[in-house]
Amino acid sequence: MTISIIYARSLNHCIGHEGGLPWDLPSEFEHFNRTTLGHSVIMGRRSYEDHRSELPGRLNIVVSTQQNYALVPRVQLASSLDQALELGLKYHKEVFVIGGTELIVKAMHSRETCTVYESIIDANCEGDTFLPEFNFDNWQSTLISKHAADQNHRFSFEIWRRTRLSQI
Ligand SMILES: NC(=O)c1ccc[n+]([C@@H]2O[C@H](COP(=O)([O-])OP(=O)(O)OC[C@H]3O[C@@H](n4cnc5c(N)ncnc54)[C@H](OP(=O)(O)O)[C@@H]3O)[C@@H](O)[C@H]2O)c1
Repeated sequence: MTISIIYARSLNHCIGHEGGLPWDLPSEFEHFNRTTLGHSVIMGRRSYEDHRSELPGRLNIVVSTQQNYALVPRVQLASSLDQALELGLKYHKEVFVIGGTELIVKAMHSRETCTVYESIIDANCEGDTFLPEFNFDNWQSTLISKHAADQNHRFSFEIWRRTRLSQI
């Protein structure tokens, strides 16, 4: 059983703007898809409303306090992060918490979370959704890849994998 977190943040820790991402970086999104495919993904209700569809090839779980919140077919509803994790792990060995802020922060505080995939976008972005700064001193950090800015990518970015040292 593995609980992981995956997110992309700017230098100023911004992750969202007006319900969507503050950037359009196709290669970063490919990394997100490649990494989470075949696993369970857990997202907050606002993140789901950004697309209102199923991320294909994954068990999608939306967390909301609204008991009768309507979702597209196959997407599952959970009333708490714990309930979502239990459901996700019933179907897949790895579960990814994919945002937004409250779920990522909660999962970061859980000793059961052992891996964080962090994309760092090389820009200070304007937005309305931010993550706090996390201390990764007790984690092993590995740079997975670096992507330069190009005609399809306005910003360069780095992708890091952080593994909790107690898990190594
Ligand atoms: N850059 C990235 O990697 C990334 C990743 C994900 C999202 N985003 C962006 O971030 C923004 C959305 O994030 P957000 O933080 O504003 O919202 P969010 O976490 O996606 O959704 C918040 C809602 O989720 C539900 N929720 C969250 N934690 C809960 C808990 N512990 N128990 C029960 N329900 C819970 C609540 O829904 P109810 O109000 O229905 O109860 C809450 O209002 C968007 O702009 C999105 O595009 C960016």
